[in-house]
Amino acid sequence: MANLIQPVRGMNDILPVDAPVWERLESAAAELFAAYGYARIRLPVLERTELFQRSIGELTDIVEKEMYTFADRNGDSVTLRPEATAGVVRAALTNGLLHNQQQKLWCSGPMFRREKPQKGRYRQFHQLNVEALGFGEPEIDAELIVISARLWRKLGIRSVTLEMNSLGTPGARAGYKQTLVEYFSRHRAALDEESLRRLERNPMRILDSKNPTLRDLIAAAPMLGDHLDRESRDHFESVQGYLTDVGVEFKLNPRLVRGLDYYTRTVFEWVTDRLGAQGAVCSGGRYDGLVAELGGRDTPAVGWALGVERVIELARADGWSEPESVPDIYVVCVGEAARRKSFTIAETLRARLPRMRLSLGQPSAGFKAQLRHADKSGARYALIIGEDELASAKVSIKALRADVPQQLLTVDEVVEQLGG
Ligand code: HAM
Repeated sequence: MANLIQPVRGMNDILPVDAPVWERLESAAAELFAAYGYARIRLPVLERTELFQRSIGELTDIVEKEMYTFADRNGDSVTLRPEATAGVVRAALTNGLLHNQQQKLWCSGPMFRREKPQKGRYRQFHQLNVEALGFGEPEIDAELIVISARLWRKLGIRSVTLEMNSLGTPGARAGYKQTLVEYFSRHRAALDEESLRRLERNPMRILDSKNPTLRDLIAAAPMLGDHLDRESRDHFESVQGYLTDVGVEFKLNPRLVRGLDYYTRTVFEWVTDRLGAQGAVCSGGRYDGLVAELGGRDTPAVGWALGVERVIELARADGWSEPESVPDIYVVCVGEAARRKSFTIAETLRARLPRMRLSLGQPSAGFKAQLRHADKSGARYALIIGEDELASAKVSIKALRADVPQQLLTVDEVVEQLGG
């Protein structure tokens, strides 16, 4: 085993035992998105590096340190997508989806960030992503948040809380940044190296620092909320009003700034304390300037993404049990002739009972061993094909979980009995 090739660090295999849980989350989300009129879009995982530099921002951790960027064979710089919003906007623009139109879109798939791997934080992880392009109204911020709240309910997830903030317009934020720079410059001696760097380049990110020695300094820093422009304030109040009307609880977090540069106005995060350090399970907000930044017309937009691995982890912590993959029918055959015939019978049944799960089991084992396997598999029925059955052109159906007599039936009768 010394020569085994190991996977790349932080990139996980999703094993068959996890597949039912992933499917449950994906199909619950897909149903909800459809109910709210969001259409699915599928995007490439590789994009031009410039897309992320211009959208997420040059001075963010993602772009500075975490992207998988390399030169394509023709010399173009390309990047494995670290998130989906930039790609959605790029696709909407390059496919002309925004010509006098609004779009409600969702997508899913793997994202790549070269972060330090730990529980809940991976280098390849998966997101479910929803974006509403061309919608400026506070109703849509609220609608998107309500969709996420509904998803938690649908999945039985209880231990999440919603935190919200408003980042205002870029103009209002510029004034605030200036105030912050002045404040932190007065306390320059207390700042760590990372914060000093941020002070020069992206001062609001200091508010995001996890360094405990900066906690008091950050707590006493000027608040963005006090610098919000009038319209952003009204917008934010409306969003809160709609959420209150439909009973979605939230907490205002004036320190929520988000790690991507494209946000304006509403930002939010669903957080939990059940996943250790990686508390954010779903995050998003409004990005009214991004479409124009990427070459389109001024188009307001808002969206969110949830981390699939984190949501599944949380669902498990909240008591999700895993549905096992159990066959409905387990085929048992006795003798070579029956073995040959049972393959065809199984195929006929699969075609006529498409919703039934059917296992051929271990046809080379002896009769008793096959019956034992059938029982252990959890199947509801054993379908027995032996010499008697061959002679009478019938099969025997034995209920494995109920006390009913074994029956000798034609294939048509099996279909009739099990198909209902
Ligand atoms: P984000 O906060 O960077 O936002 O990521 C969204 C979610 O992805 C996080 O809340 C978290 O659950 C999950 N996530 C992020 N990084 C990792 C990781 N390394 N391992 C596991 N899970 C992770 C965005 O990506 C924005 N594009 C969201 C958005 C959509 N905003 C507007 N529209």
